[in-house]
Amino acid sequence: MCGIVGYTGDELAKDILINGLKRLEYRGYDSAGVALEDAAGGAAHIDVIRRVGKVAGLEEALANRDAAATCGIGHTRWATHGRPSKENAHPHTSCNGRIAIVHNGIIENFAELREELGQRGHTFTSDTDTEVFAHLIEEAYYGWPVGSPSDPAAGTAPGASAAPGCHDLMAAVREACTHVVGAYGLAVVCADEPGVIAVARKDSPIVIGRGARGSYVASDVIALIDATRDVVVLEDGQFARLAPEGITYTDTEGAPIEPAVTHIDWDIDMAEKGGYPDFMLKEICEQPRVVRDTLVGRMTGGELTIDELGLSLEELNLIDRVYVIACGTSYHAGLIAKNLIEMWARIPCEVEAASEFRYRNPIITPSTLVVAVSQSGETADTLAAIRDARIKGAKVFGITNVVGSPVARESDGVIYTKANKEIAVASTKSFIGQVVSLTLLALLLAQVKYRLTVGQVRMLFRELGDTAEQIQWILDTQKDAIHEAALACKDAHSALFVGRGMGAAIANEGALKLKEISYLHAEAYAAGEMKHGPIALIDPGFPVIAIATKSPVYDKTVSNLKECEARGAKIVVVATEGDEDIARIADHVIYIPPVRDAFSAITATVPLQLLAREVALMRGCDVDQPRNLAKSVTVE
Ligand code: G6P
Repeated sequence: MCGIVGYTGDELAKDILINGLKRLEYRGYDSAGVALEDAAGGAAHIDVIRRVGKVAGLEEALANRDAAATCGIGHTRWATHGRPSKENAHPHTSCNGRIAIVHNGIIENFAELREELGQRGHTFTSDTDTEVFAHLIEEAYYGWPVGSPSDPAAGTAPGASAAPGCHDLMAAVREACTHVVGAYGLAVVCADEPGVIAVARKDSPIVIGRGARGSYVASDVIALIDATRDVVVLEDGQFARLAPEGITYTDTEGAPIEPAVTHIDWDIDMAEKGGYPDFMLKEICEQPRVVRDTLVGRMTGGELTIDELGLSLEELNLIDRVYVIACGTSYHAGLIAKNLIEMWARIPCEVEAASEFRYRNPIITPSTLVVAVSQSGETADTLAAIRDARIKGAKVFGITNVVGSPVARESDGVIYTKANKEIAVASTKSFIGQVVSLTLLALLLAQVKYRLTVGQVRMLFRELGDTAEQIQWILDTQKDAIHEAALACKDAHSALFVGRGMGAAIANEGALKLKEISYLHAEAYAAGEMKHGPIALIDPGFPVIAIATKSPVYDKTVSNLKECEARGAKIVVVATEGDEDIARIADHVIYIPPVRDAFSAITATVPLQLLAREVALMRGCDVDQPRNLAKSVTVE
């Protein structure tokens, strides 16, 4: 949710900033901008260039500029306060234009601050919360009234006294942070301290790295991995001063600290399309690997083990209630997990949207396990729910794709999904990694509760591994069937996704994928519930996409589909290979290999991802960066 980047060194800043912003674009793409420190012609000043829309527009604007700056900051925005416009695009500047800031997060008390700053003579040029930060830093740096001492006539609140400036960027940023309530990851430049970038963080990700040609900061390691693989993941309350010659870190008092360095071991190929037309397809095709990698090292000495669990087997044995909390696609992974945990471990499991969980008063005791699922590991609602659950005494277990992310750090234990970097905004491979990880957790709970024998767990683990090849089979053989089904759906104004049991849970993810990338309204419904309302929607040609794989509820699902067929629905079915009968009622059949019902989500979701992508492409949509969305949502 908003990407920030900064560079200071001896190379041209504009190129590094643009490359970084392109990599961060998954975080938001409403507008983009840079602030470049320009020392040409004597006194340094700051040039701000901003454009509405994607980074490509900003790149074009910069291409025609002779920007020799070697220090600058950049931003790609997902609008929270203020519509997407040039004025609301970052960087934002102080009244005197000598301070510029990029910010990711949200300032909750911005209205009061804006009012106070206005009374003291500051003028605002945007509707954003961020702009107050620029003015707060300006006051701390230059003193106030605004422009003092050279312009003492500038507005001062009646009765307010003047304050001197500290003329120290780091001190000014630290001071500004003490006035702000909310979340921030920010980078600031000041024309009076050329070459310096001040960085601060609270509840918003910041990584910092030192390369051969300078110092770098970004919201995500993906923007600086070309320069270095050794990064500092800044913690809340830590500050960094980046200069061309090096980086220093301080705490809230300005005392030096030495944060830990994390080595990034994933490959830069992850950030490139690698010959695929879009990231979404690339990531869908990586799913067999994700299954394999997520399982590596989990079966040792014939027993299922999750070392990072953070709970002893005795503690696990005492668990008598599980909550899965998550948002979006991760929430759907939770719906699958509920089926597995209750079926195998016989523990009641509830799945709840994190944004709801935290505002209820869920029943939590020390024997409650809260499983927080988050691809990014930084979703604000999920994090807040984790904190709430821990205060209430629950054990919290995180499932995330990002090593060292807030979800990982704030949970008692964690499983990493091994999907590696996911760039397309609509989640695909992370979902598969989450479902595999949750399956492992369900098996472990069943094992420690003696609901499954070690032998049964071993057999199920083997079958779970087989899903990697089954996904590959779908990718290799079902392309044409999916294309035909997409042609049948592309002109619809709405679609229903239906299934029963595991199929009902899978339907949710199918519907979400279709609506988020093709803007075609889609709804998921338990097939048996259709007759209680949604069937009224069906008229000739209305698409009904069903998950009707061989399972204990197969016949029931087929009966429900017949009801849809009788009313003229256009029926697309995800069915089990070898099921010829289904073709009698289906207009289009997409096959998946025979699979145990418990694992069917891992395979049956894949054709639905591909179907959504095909429909979106046919409708001329950008499958990697759908409108209005961002990949990680760090605001409530
Ligand atoms: C956003 C993304 C979704 C994602 C959801 C939860 O809405 O667009 O793809 O599922 O956030 O994100 P998380 O990182 O917590 O899994």
